[in-house]
Amino acid sequence: MSRTSPLRKFRQAEELSKFALDVRQGLSQTQKEIPSQYLYDQVGTALFEAITYVPEYGLTRADERLLRRHAGAIVDHLPSPVAVAELGSGTGRKTRWILEALAKRQPVTYFPIDIAPTALAKCRQELAELAGVSIVGLEHSYVDGLRDVVSRRRDGQTLLVLFLGSTIGNFEPHAADRFLTDIRRCLLPGDALLLGTDLEKALSVVLPAYDDDAGVTAAFNLNVLARINRELHADFVLKNFRHEARYRARERRVEMHLRSTTRQTVRVRDADFTCSLQEGETIWTEACHKFRLEEIPAMATRSGFACTWQWVDADWPFAENLLIAMSHPN
Ligand code: AVJ
Repeated sequence: MSRTSPLRKFRQAEELSKFALDVRQGLSQTQKEIPSQYLYDQVGTALFEAITYVPEYGLTRADERLLRRHAGAIVDHLPSPVAVAELGSGTGRKTRWILEALAKRQPVTYFPIDIAPTALAKCRQELAELAGVSIVGLEHSYVDGLRDVVSRRRDGQTLLVLFLGSTIGNFEPHAADRFLTDIRRCLLPGDALLLGTDLEKALSVVLPAYDDDAGVTAAFNLNVLARINRELHADFVLKNFRHEARYRARERRVEMHLRSTTRQTVRVRDADFTCSLQEGETIWTEACHKFRLEEIPAMATRSGFACTWQWVDADWPFAENLLIAMSHPN
């Protein structure tokens, strides 16, 4: 599809107004909030990619280590032939290990699903040279994309869905259950979901991971305000906000906030909305749940899967979990 097609223009306009509505609603709450999905525009995605290289943020490296070491064992649990769908195409850096292991047995089709066309292009670039892998990028939301994959599935093919990087941790627990149930409903018994989950770890490790010395995470967080300025013609003054990472022990999650360092008023023109902030008030931008290993089989069962295998990294508590769709979903 060309960049200027009428369909794309229409979809951009639609997304913009949804963005405006979400921003207005989020900033009208007692605890002001901007949904975390909006952190990932083109700049935010590049900044997140940079985060994956800062020494304090071990999550992505642990995820990749596990996939590199155990790709063979993971795919050995799946009957051939296999088609792979990935929710959020990432950069392809981690996925290559799984695709390589599968392509050793049989040619494999890989469907990266992402709403961002630039993410899909990058993923295609990164994985283009893999022998025996055909890539079909789908510009969709996760569940719509998965429905599309299912409609293209060939008889007798097992579907392996990848949901890596602990993105599941961004959901509130009940929303995570609902999301996994939605995925299960797209699948047939015996299909698989490989779920990456960051695990509980010492406060002295988890907090710096979200507040690194080089300030990359701070830039990633603040960029959401710059994005609102760019796309919704708002007048946030970024130096009047400070990045903050907190750990909520009871909920077992890291929260990112932007703390207003002064009393101020912000106009969001395209949302037709003005917002006042007290000195010290925060805007909540992201929650990252930290799991316990035993939490995942229970979560799997509630959503119609059986968690059959778990692999845990020795250096950074993180788990890959292989979930198999059961014959009688709830
Ligand atoms: C991409 C959602 C897995 O929760 O660790 C990284 C996002 N936020 N640093 C995470 C993130 C701040 C990341 N996920």
